[in-house]
Amino acid sequence: MAKRSHHSYLIVGGAGYIGSHVVKALVERGDQVVTLDDLSKGHRAAVSGGQFITGDLGDRQLLGEIFTTTPIDCVMHFGAYIEVGESVHKPLEYYRNNTAKTTDLLLAMKEHGVDRFILSSTAAVYGEPQRMPIEETDPTAPTNPYGHSKAFIEQILHDAEAAHDLRYVALRYFNAAGADPSGTIGEAHHPESHLIPLVLQVPLGQRDHIAIFGTDWPTPDGTCVRDYIHVNDLAEAHILAAQRLLDGGDSATYNLGCETGYSVKTIIDLAREVTGHAIPAQEAPRRPGDSATLVASSARIKAELGWTPQYDDPKAIIETAWRWHQGHPRGYEGGGD
Ligand code: UFG
Repeated sequence: MAKRSHHSYLIVGGAGYIGSHVVKALVERGDQVVTLDDLSKGHRAAVSGGQFITGDLGDRQLLGEIFTTTPIDCVMHFGAYIEVGESVHKPLEYYRNNTAKTTDLLLAMKEHGVDRFILSSTAAVYGEPQRMPIEETDPTAPTNPYGHSKAFIEQILHDAEAAHDLRYVALRYFNAAGADPSGTIGEAHHPESHLIPLVLQVPLGQRDHIAIFGTDWPTPDGTCVRDYIHVNDLAEAHILAAQRLLDGGDSATYNLGCETGYSVKTIIDLAREVTGHAIPAQEAPRRPGDSATLVASSARIKAELGWTPQYDDPKAIIETAWRWHQGHPRGYEGGGD
């Protein structure tokens, strides 16, 4: 087996859903991990190892102390607000947290000579895509403040790279789902808005049905089609992206999806199979801000970094989510260990 060198990472937002899976993967590899999270959305119990610091990603003094105390090879940034609908009602909060504070983080990195950065970006930067699957070279045209807040920071990274020593990878996630197969960490948003955890709340006895937001979309069964990617496959992509930068590679932007779309109705059917529960569904109006279909081409990251998703089947993804939610029906706040 090839010898693996160990590195030190600052994981901003590492107590959240995706960040906590990356922290676990890095700790298991033997890398040095410092997690910074203000716990406004994240959970201390989700951080399975390394050093934990409670603090704000825009606190340049605190960042300076971290960078002075611990030499950091690479910063990964998961500390964003993620609700499309909420961003429409609270655009200033989204731009402050996702764009302005990220700029503070980048300034602190520059001041302390930390020059490698991995951004959690999103398929929302594409807005209403003109063709499927979506490639990284397709135009970005966000349709909501959340997508703009990420597109802005991608532009800021591009400009900062031209002016400074910074190198970065922007990872545009499609629909992150599932949980670590250990069942110890998983998705725990409050309030929850994502399809799979909401569907699973029905067999958990926490809601009596799942609402299907629109059955008149221009898709085969009339419900929205999404590209679901397992959170541990996302984690692996972060590690490969960091390795690219640590090996001296150039900045890059990659889509992350499994390249196959599944409808809302299909996901509900698969959850019925996994849980053995009838899961009543009710048709509801379209949700503002949704697109009919979002499916990635991930050909670029496969070709350039050798990334291969281990979970290419949404049923297997739902099984891991179900294990987590059964063991932790109220997330990290009690109701499980
Ligand atoms: N849906 C329902 N009922 C529900 C919840 C969701 O029918 O109760 C539908 C949505 O309308 C959508 C699909 O299920 O068609 C998936 O919805 P999610 O909320 O799980 O995910 P989104 O595709 O809306 O959002 C994801 C990320 C966002 C990102 C967006 C676009 O969570 O952060 O993709 O890239 F912005």
